[in-house]
Amino acid sequence: MASLTSLISSPPSSTNNIFPKRTSQLSAPIGRLQTLRKSQLAVTCKSSNGRSDPFDEVLAAAAAASRRDVLLGLGAGLYGAGAFVTDPFSAAFARPIDGPSQDVCKLATPSPGNPLQIECCPPAMAGRESKPFQFPSPSEPKRIRRPAHLASQDKEYVEKYKLAMKRMKCLPPEDPRSFFQQAKVHCAYCNGSYVQSSHTNLGLQIHFSWLFLPFHRMYLHFYERILGSLIQDPTFALPFWNWDHEDGMAIAEMFKDPESPLFDGLRNVHHLPSNKPLDLRWDRVTEDKPFERIRDDNYARVYELMVSGAQRRLEFFGPKYRAGDPPPAGGGGTSERLHNMAHLWTGGHNQQFGEDMGNFYSAGRDPIFYVHHCNVDRLWNVWKTIGGFRFDFDDYDYLNTSFLFYDENSDLIKIKVKDVLDPQALGLEYEDRPIPWRNSRPVPTAANAARTATAAAFGGPAEAQAAVGPRYVDPSKITSPSAFPLVLEKVTTVMVPRPKKGRTAKEKSAASEILVVEGIELEGDKVVQFEVVINDDPDNPSGPSNSEFAGSFLNIPHVHGNNGHNKFVTGLRMDITELLEDIGAENDDQIQVTLVPKKSDGPVTIGGLKIEYSS
Ligand code: C2O
Repeated sequence: MASLTSLISSPPSSTNNIFPKRTSQLSAPIGRLQTLRKSQLAVTCKSSNGRSDPFDEVLAAAAAASRRDVLLGLGAGLYGAGAFVTDPFSAAFARPIDGPSQDVCKLATPSPGNPLQIECCPPAMAGRESKPFQFPSPSEPKRIRRPAHLASQDKEYVEKYKLAMKRMKCLPPEDPRSFFQQAKVHCAYCNGSYVQSSHTNLGLQIHFSWLFLPFHRMYLHFYERILGSLIQDPTFALPFWNWDHEDGMAIAEMFKDPESPLFDGLRNVHHLPSNKPLDLRWDRVTEDKPFERIRDDNYARVYELMVSGAQRRLEFFGPKYRAGDPPPAGGGGTSERLHNMAHLWTGGHNQQFGEDMGNFYSAGRDPIFYVHHCNVDRLWNVWKTIGGFRFDFDDYDYLNTSFLFYDENSDLIKIKVKDVLDPQALGLEYEDRPIPWRNSRPVPTAANAARTATAAAFGGPAEAQAAVGPRYVDPSKITSPSAFPLVLEKVTTVMVPRPKKGRTAKEKSAASEILVVEGIELEGDKVVQFEVVINDDPDNPSGPSNSEFAGSFLNIPHVHGNNGHNKFVTGLRMDITELLEDIGAENDDQIQVTLVPKKSDGPVTIGGLKIEYSS
C-alpha cells in the first residue's frame, strides 16, 4: 500500500494569484496539503477545537482501510462482472435497483490505478435498520429556493445560510449530518464505494442514467433539511445558481468571501470575477470571450438541451438503469449534459483531479455544488412545463429504485424515486424566474439559409432538392464509414444515411429523429470533449447559436471502476428533428456529420454514427 506522501503523485502547480496565502501553500510540497486544509477549515469553523481537516485524515485512514479490505477479500475484484457497458440504452433486467449494499462499502478513488484512495463510506451502515421515507407534513412551511445572485443581496438570508453551513462544518466529522459526511455522500455514490445491494458484484453509479435527476433531488432534500434544522428554521431553503439567466451566470457574491463557510479555495480563480459568466461551451483555454457571446451561446445551448434536443424522456433523463445492469457511464441525458460544464468550469484549474467541483469524488466539498444542483433540479420542473412529450418516466423499476440517506435526525432513510417526482409534496418551491432561452432557437448559417431560400423559390421539396442539392463538402474530405472505429484526432466528416426522408408532421410527432454517435470509448478519469455539427463547413464549424450545431460530448472525470481498467464505451444521442427543419435538410437522404474534437486529456475512439427514432 502506498505511503501517505505518495498518495498524491504530483503536487499541483499554481498560477493562483487572487489568494496569495494559498499560492504559497499550493506551490509547497504536497505534504503541506494538510496544513492548507487545516487553515481552510480554521476560517470556516471557528470552534474547530484544534481538529484537523477530516478530508486529510481520510487519506491516512485510507491506507489502513485498504489493508482491511484486502484482509476481508473486499478488494477491487468485486467489480469483475461489469467490465464494459455494452449498450447503456437497453435495459437487461426488469428490476428496480434496491439501493447500495449496507454491508459492502469500498474505498473510493478519483481514478483507478492511481494510488490516491479515499474513504467515502458513511458511518455505521452495516446491520442498521433503515426507515421508510416520510413526506413532510403539509402543515410544514414551504421552502422557497431563490436565485443565488439575488439572495446574495439579502443580508439576513446570507447570514442565516452562513450560520447553518458553519454549524454543519463544525459538527464532529463522524456525525452523518456533518459537512464532511455529506460531501462524502456524493463520492460514495459516484466514485466506486457502493455496490448494488441485490448484485454485490456490480458497482452502483447514480450519474449517466435516468437516476441522475431523482438522486440529486433526494440529496438536496436531506442536505437542505439538515441545514435548516441546525438553525431551527423550517423555512430554510438553499439558493439556486441561476446560470440560465444572464443576471445569474457568474458565481454569486456570497460564495466568494474567503472568510465565509460558503467559500471553497479549490475553485478556478479565473472564474471568480463577477463579470465572468459560466461558459457552457468553455474550451478549457479561452478566458477572454465577450460576455454577450457567452450569454447567447449559453441560451442556445440551454434551448438545445431543454427544448429541441430534449423532446423525449430517454434523451432528457438518460439511459434506463436497472438492478443487474453494470454501472452506466458517459454523458447521460441532456439534463445531465447541460449540467456537466459547471463542474469543470468551477473546479480548480491547477488541481490534479480538478478538485473540488471538477471531479465527482470531491464535488460535494464545495458549497456551490448544492446550489448548482438546485438549478439543475429547477430545470427539471421547467422542462415538464414546456409541453409535448415531456413527462416523467412511469416505469415500475424507475419508480421503485431506492437509495439510502441520513436525515436531519441522523436516521437512515430509504427513499424511492417515486417519492421525489412531485416537488410540491416535498414542500419545495422555486421562485419564478424568466426563461430567456425559451426563444433562443438557433438560426441556420448564411449558406444553409440561402440554400433553403433558393429551394423555396422552386416550389415543392422534391423540385427544390433537384435544383439546389444538399450542401456537401468536397468528397475527398469525407471519411468513409469503413474507417470506423477511429481515434478522433482531427475534425472528421462522415455521411450518415437517413432511413426515412421527408417525414410528415404526424411521423415527426410519433417519433423524434435521433443522431447517435455509438461506441464512444475513453478513459473515465480523463476529460474528453468533442462537438457535432451537421451539413456545415468542416473548416469553420458552427457554434451553438447556429442550427447546424447538433450537440457536444463532455466526460467529467469519474471512476468507472473495473479492476483498475477505467475504459468504458458509451453513446451520444442528439434529437435532430427540429435541426433538420431549420437547415432545410428534411428531404435529404443523408446528412453530413462533422465531429470536432476539443481540448481533451485522453484519446477517444468513435465506433460509428447512425440515425434512430425515439418515441
Ligand atoms: Cu452528482 Cu453534478 O453531479
